[in-house]
Amino acid sequence: MRTARARARSNIALVKYWGKRDEKRILPVTGSLSLTLDELWTETEVRFTGAPGEDELVIGGTRATEHEHRRASALLDLVRDGRPELGAARIDSTTSFPVAAGLASSASGFAALAAAAAWAAGDDPSDLQLSILARRASGSACRSVFGGFAEWRRGEREDGADSHGVQLLGPDEWQVAMAIAEVEAGRKEVSSRHAMRTARETSPYFPAWEAQTAIDLEQAREAIRRRDLESLGRVAERSAFAMHATCFTSEPPVFFWKPSTLAVLEAVRTLRAEGVAAYATIDAGPHVAVLCEAGQLGRVGEALRKVDGVRRVLEARPGPGVERR
Ligand code: PMV
Repeated sequence: MRTARARARSNIALVKYWGKRDEKRILPVTGSLSLTLDELWTETEVRFTGAPGEDELVIGGTRATEHEHRRASALLDLVRDGRPELGAARIDSTTSFPVAAGLASSASGFAALAAAAAWAAGDDPSDLQLSILARRASGSACRSVFGGFAEWRRGEREDGADSHGVQLLGPDEWQVAMAIAEVEAGRKEVSSRHAMRTARETSPYFPAWEAQTAIDLEQAREAIRRRDLESLGRVAERSAFAMHATCFTSEPPVFFWKPSTLAVLEAVRTLRAEGVAAYATIDAGPHVAVLCEAGQLGRVGEALRKVDGVRRVLEARPGPGVERR
């Protein structure tokens, strides 16, 4: 029996991935850029039993849902391709943060699963190969193979061989941090997969999103190279708000924000007025991640905790890429 265990961290995009040009291979319309976070991790063990049958997936001690199970098995099938002797898999996964809250758990989850599965099968993939494998399960997961700042290169090829993450800066090369305000969510959200497809197919703003993202990527790369937090923060806010603008203008429209989302954005503006470099970004949900200097993390976290409707605030620093455990 073949077993391997991997730990991967989540990442929060500063220039968002939003829209696929190939739904099956998960190839993006644009490149994207993110920060991998130390405190938000998933650790996964994969054991190939060598016997045919159903895969078994346990997340945090509980049997996975039908949907989670299907996505995990689809990734395992890519690893098992042409090697039926590997057989059914037993997968056991633990996460350091609440999965149900919608805090980018698919990125850490699928990066850890891709690595553990490939290693359990006896493969020795390069980081680029692992990134491509993780991408096939969840686009944003391809960036979590790398620590620190990572870019997902859009690529040009139809087979996706040039669409993968690359590292821009290691986790210790720039002392920044993120405070993530989890706001009261209520009703279940639309999935990012569904919302980005609707935006690409129906929003009149989508072509503008695509054109602007090329500019944002360029500016974000340059800001990271110069360690210029103000420039990077401005690009990050612009990218997040443009992404959400394609949702507001979708048919039917999608609103991920709650009233407390706006209240957190207001608190971030107040922090800036007080001289603290703090910049917000929002994924396909109501929570707000705030980029700041590492030395200001405590102050930013404290300000966000005071906002009405904020359930909890996670404080995170840049983290490493995927690791064998
Ligand atoms: O990788 P997915 O399918 O979970 O999509 C992620 C989309 C965003 O989180 C909204 C943006 C991003 O780049 O992570």
